[in-house]
Amino acid sequence: MNKLFFPFLIFFFFASSLIFSEEKTSRDGKTVYDAACAVCHQNGLAGAPIFGDKSAWGYRVNKSLDELTYSVKNGLRGMPAMGLCMNCSEQELEMAVSYILDSL
Ligand code: HEC
Repeated sequence: MNKLFFPFLIFFFFASSLIFSEEKTSRDGKTVYDAACAVCHQNGLAGAPIFGDKSAWGYRVNKSLDELTYSVKNGLRGMPAMGLCMNCSEQELEMAVSYILDSL
């Protein structure tokens, strides 16, 4: 069997447990971002403003943390509700948004 298969499997379980588990412990912004948001925000998939690229965020940087978190929670055009982190708490979404804002 391919030597990479096993580490990949472990990684997959780890990543999917972050996205799908019912764990109640709160994850930090980077953890949530990497698990749920990076898919779109790392490369601008579906027109998402790119992580670390201030010009891509444009007018959005003038929105408040609350407004931005609200957009993630409820979805905004190309972004599905909860930014696809279905088991994220509002606090976790907010920390992920802060993590993105810190990169700009
Ligand atoms: C399926 C792709 C996708 C995923 C996953 C995703 N986003 Fe987005 N996001 C988008 C797109 C597309 C936009 C731009 C929406 C628009 O204004 O048309 C956006 C916009 C945003 C904005 C700006 C909202 C505003 O009010 O202008 C924030 C903040 C944001 N995303 C945070 C997140 C966070 C945090 C996560 C993870 C929990 C996440 N996104 C996951 C696609 C995604």
